Amino acid sequence: MSVPTPRPARLVVLVSGGGSNLAALLEATRDPGYGAQVIAVGADREGTGGVDLAKAAGLATFVERLGDHASREEWDAALTAQVAAHEPDLVVSAGFLKLCGPRFLERFGGRYINTHNALLPAFPGIHGPRDALAYGVRLAGATLFFVDAGVDTGAIVAQVAVPVLDDDDVATLTERIKVAERAQLVEQVGRLAREGWRIEGRRVMVGPAR
Ligand code: GRF
Repeated sequence: MSVPTPRPARLVVLVSGGGSNLAALLEATRDPGYGAQVIAVGADREGTGGVDLAKAAGLATFVERLGDHASREEWDAALTAQVAAHEPDLVVSAGFLKLCGPRFLERFGGRYINTHNALLPAFPGIHGPRDALAYGVRLAGATLFFVDAGVDTGAIVAQVAVPVLDDDDVATLTERIKVAERAQLVEQVGRLAREGWRIEGRRVMVGPAR
């Protein structure tokens, strides 16, 4: 459970790629009424557009590469420490292509969200749009959820549907999903930050308890 704070919520954003979701969040946080600020951006690899964006915005950045550690446990501990140093209210995985370990989840479980480019529980994993297209679904989309120990299995905050068009290929569908996904991420992170949330079983309730 989390309650809204009088100050803007502190976000740490984790990326592995271009960072278009991060860019959308940075844009939204320019409005003081949004209720959240990106404090730091971390990556699991060098050379991500996301970290470049963060540096250009004058934000703190860090990179923790799995290959630089003797074990996954060690990497998990190092990533946890990096994120914890920024005292986030909410950690946002925005295209972060690593599964965080037990230490990370122990520390940030219940305040670590991920955006996935499929309508979960269908098509988990890294090929959501490709798998949805191959299956022949008429509605694809994106899911925002609190990360748990499974692969794309956590409690769902929000979902947005994106119709599959007859002439879609993986690239066009992926791109249309990303547009809807970014808007959803921005809207929902703002809501979580301003209103607080609680997780009851698999259900996420945004806003004060009634
Ligand atoms: C998102 O579509 C996310 O669902 C997927 O990777 C994409 C991240 O894109 N896992 P970006 O780095 O935010 O542009």
